[in-house]
Amino acid sequence: MTPPIIAPSILAADFANLQRDVEMVNRSEADWFHVDVMDGMFVPNISFGFPVLEAIRRHTTKPLDVHLMIVQPERYIAEFAEKGADHITVHYEACTHLHRVLTQIRQAGCQAGVALNMQTPVDVLADIADAFDQVLIMTINPGFGGQKLLPLSVPKVRKLRQLLQGAGSSALIGVDGGMDLSNTATLLDAGADYVVAGTSVFGSDDPIAAIHRLKSSRQP
Ligand code: DX5
Ligand code: ZN
Repeated sequence: MTPPIIAPSILAADFANLQRDVEMVNRSEADWFHVDVMDGMFVPNISFGFPVLEAIRRHTTKPLDVHLMIVQPERYIAEFAEKGADHITVHYEACTHLHRVLTQIRQAGCQAGVALNMQTPVDVLADIADAFDQVLIMTINPGFGGQKLLPLSVPKVRKLRQLLQGAGSSALIGVDGGMDLSNTATLLDAGADYVVAGTSVFGSDDPIAAIHRLKSSRQP
């Protein structure tokens, strides 16, 4: 049984001790580093931009999984790639020409990801299933860490798994928001491949152990 990919979200780290937290993730069983960029337009919150991304890049040994919660993300793809992103995920809801943006991400040498908000049906991806490498199902309304997972996301992941199988796509399915030990096994069972977790990792007394538990949480 393949263990899930675990991507701790830096949004919940201690920004005054960023190097310490990044090095902790380096030592853990985490697979990727999830980096949430928010512009105060697409979501009602502003997180951080290039200087923080570059600082993380300098210290991490893990691939950087950049989640852009910004309007018109096509304006910044090249710069995020240049500053060290390995994967770039844009929101379906933020792209008029999603296929073009995903192509732009691949041309920049990155894995192309698309994120779907709660209200967006998975079927919007059916006709372009060969254009992305990963799909991020938002399991909360994005903008803030520390929220509770919305159960509607479980059947949605299941539906997406079927859609990708039908389309012959090997894109990975991720889940983001409110992920912890109480719900990870359920979402993996529904078809998720990677788990983004902020509060349940960085809010834990022992984040390395928390990552280990998430990594081992797939039910037999
Ligand atoms: C929310 C972000 C998430 C967030 C997850 O908009 O996309 O990645 O950091 O944080 P938790 O795990 O605290 O819900
Ligand atoms: Zn995220």
